Amino acid sequence: MPLQTNDALGRCKDLVLYFLIAAVFSEKLVLEVNAHVAAWHKGMYCINGTTAGVEDEDTNSAVQPLFQLNKTDWWMHHFNGCDQFPPASGDFLELPSNGNFTVELAVNRAFTTLSYNGTRTALYGDGQDHPGLGVTLEGKTDANACITNPNIHTQNETMAAGTIFAISYTSDITQVTEDNLVVFTVLPNTPWQRIATYKVPNLPACPAGGCICAWGWVADNCGEPNMYMQPFRCKVTGKTGNAAVSPGTPPVWCEDNQSKCVAGAKQMVFWNQLEANNVAVSGNDLSGDAKSPTYNSKMGFTSGAQTDIFQTAGTATSTYIPPASAPTSSAIRPCMTASLWTAWALFIPLGLFMAGL
Ligand SMILES: *[C@@H]1O[C@H](CO)[C@@H](O)[C@H](O)[C@H]1NC(C)=O
Ligand SMILES: *[C@@H]1O[C@H](CO)[C@@H](O)[C@H](O)[C@H]1NC(C)=O
Ligand SMILES: *[C@@H]1O[C@H](CO)[C@@H](O)[C@H](O)[C@H]1NC(C)=O
Ligand SMILES: *[C@@H]1O[C@H](CO)[C@@H](O)[C@H](O)[C@H]1NC(C)=O
Ligand SMILES: *[C@@H]1O[C@H](CO)[C@@H](O)[C@H](O)[C@H]1NC(C)=O
Ligand SMILES: *[C@@H]1O[C@H](CO)[C@@H](O)[C@H](O)[C@H]1NC(C)=O
Repeated sequence: MPLQTNDALGRCKDLVLYFLIAAVFSEKLVLEVNAHVAAWHKGMYCINGTTAGVEDEDTNSAVQPLFQLNKTDWWMHHFNGCDQFPPASGDFLELPSNGNFTVELAVNRAFTTLSYNGTRTALYGDGQDHPGLGVTLEGKTDANACITNPNIHTQNETMAAGTIFAISYTSDITQVTEDNLVVFTVLPNTPWQRIATYKVPNLPACPAGGCICAWGWVADNCGEPNMYMQPFRCKVTGKTGNAAVSPGTPPVWCEDNQSKCVAGAKQMVFWNQLEANNVAVSGNDLSGDAKSPTYNSKMGFTSGAQTDIFQTAGTATSTYIPPASAPTSSAIRPCMTASLWTAWALFIPLGLFMAGL
């Protein structure tokens, strides 16, 4: 994947200038740098921020955590309007069936390839390389403290809780429900560095208008015990599977006894909200910290592609969906040539026919 790399000198110069401007003129910018994490990709909602008609290359709208909100507000990150700003038409997070896809985990769009031609990107999602992060005292106050710079809610890479993507087989974000949004991939020990590559199971094809996906994260303590739910438009590409995804069941805490884990398709973790939580935990985990319902074995999630989420073979029709071969950077957009439009125009009726409509 041709992610852009940088001229280190150019980046440092940019950053010094950036922080000087930030420090002098804007407290907001400083807060943004110190904010939380989102998964960045052109298929995301609120890529330009949440002001209609404005492209904010420094947006952090998608990174805000969700804590003690009503369901209408936490669901799909509605509280700041993120769900009202879909990606540009034709922009999807592509999920190659049985392959992988890459997003950028960052605290602000500025530090991804989606802004400034990628000139402010670095190893970590705050535009810096942090050579000692998780090993030295870099970004923290003492050895066992949580790293606060960048604000990735962990002491080190080993302790990073893991992040997920879930998929719902509808093109209409208002039709997504807890049980039709199923976790299909888990990336352990994230968020950590900026580049994050998730594995995809044998997913069946999406409807012609694509699917709705969501990124999720619950940190293992280290700060406010909040959750993350960030919407995307996505579509499965390549040779797609022939088994539909089962409805999801809420995961349960099973660190102490793996035979209590929920097997098969699981919902995202919804917790510490005012209403509609699907998970409740109390007491301490085996290491003596307050239980946090993280996307890992403590909640019954295995690493990588979730291969146990499917109904029986034959419940979906296997097909081939050509990838758009789009680079991660929005700076280089795929061009819709006449032949691509023709292929698309032919594909929609074919897709409808195969779906039996
Ligand atoms: C949640 O909803 C209730 C009932 O509608 C309302 O009274 C309350 O202010 C809301 N809380 C938040 C944080 O939005
Ligand atoms: C973001 O802003 C740019 C520049 O105005 C525009 O080309 C693009 O379509 C916008 N994207 C979305 C999803 O609104
Ligand atoms: C992702 O898939 C590509 C293409 O199949 C492969 O070359 C690469 O090793 C995979 N990366 C990961 C991290 O699995
Ligand atoms: C990004 O790169 C393109 C092509 O090299 C250039 O035209 C454009 O000015 C650059 N934009 C920024 C913000 O540096
Ligand atoms: C990571 O942090 C945890 C908690 O502070 C600590 O117990 C563990 O030894 C650390 N691991 C590494 C590899 O530094
Ligand atoms: C583990 O959980 C299973 C299923 O709930 C239960 O039958 C079993 O007794 C538990 N084992 C222990 C050691 O608690």
